[in-house]
Amino acid sequence: MSDVNGAVVLVVGASGVLGAELARQLESEGATVVRAGRSAERLSGPDAFLADLTDEAAAAAIVAAAFGAHDRLDGIVIAAGVVAFGPVGEVRDDTLRQLFETNALAPMRLIREAVPHLSASAQGGGKPFVVTLSGIVAESPTAGLAAYSASKAALAAFVQASSRELRRSGIRVLDARPGHIETGLATRAIAGTAPAFPAGLAPEAVAARIVRAIRDDEKDLPSTAF
Ligand SMILES: NC(=O)c1ccc[n+]([C@@H]2O[C@H](COP(=O)([O-])OP(=O)(O)OC[C@H]3O[C@@H](n4cnc5c(N)ncnc54)[C@H](OP(=O)(O)O)[C@@H]3O)[C@@H](O)[C@H]2O)c1
Repeated sequence: MSDVNGAVVLVVGASGVLGAELARQLESEGATVVRAGRSAERLSGPDAFLADLTDEAAAAAIVAAAFGAHDRLDGIVIAAGVVAFGPVGEVRDDTLRQLFETNALAPMRLIREAVPHLSASAQGGGKPFVVTLSGIVAESPTAGLAAYSASKAALAAFVQASSRELRRSGIRVLDARPGHIETGLATRAIAGTAPAFPAGLAPEAVAARIVRAIRDDEKDLPSTAF
């Protein structure tokens, strides 16, 4: 089994544009993909599980369902997230809460829940991996996006430390930090209005770059890799 071909991979946020594309490309490289998402109408496939990540119990339920589907888990890709815009002086508590629950706490919980299964995969000869999508804002916190940047920087810090710690268990943790992608995420902001962005990256190209990094055993995907 390579990192992708033959692997059982959980894609969280598979109802999103990038998550759906990552799931599709991983399948075409030979992975068995288990999808988790929030929206039934945008989630397809034989192994698809619905969960709202702002629910504290969701991470454990998703990982247990994914493992239960194939009695194995070799990879987890976390592509769920929300964005919010607006001045620092106006950010609301419910916005802060939703940003940190979805972008930081839920991925931390998902990684925690996946660790025993990914360790077992490594012990069984697999090459397990975790992929997160913090984004360029984790490298360059951005005006007008302070709370979003902070939630993604929290995730990036957790993932960087996890990467060092989990390496010993044979688990590779890869944080992807692309710049703006044309997924329409900014139009679905939970607060505020997006400024006019220059044309962004194509979701298909970003997904392809991430899948290549998984396949080629890369250790990090900074913004410059896109
Ligand atoms: N687009 C960019 O410019 C860009 C750049 C760098 C990083 N990223 C990151 O890439 C990831 C994918 O974003 P995208 O651009 O593909 O946007 P997207 O199409 O809006 O995807 C976001 C996904 O997150 C899910 N989600 C949001 N809140 C959730 C919750 N409480 N519980 C469960 N799922 C939830 C959405 O579910 P629903 O389908 O139900 O809404 C959707 O599947 C995000 O983490 C984003 O921050 C995006």
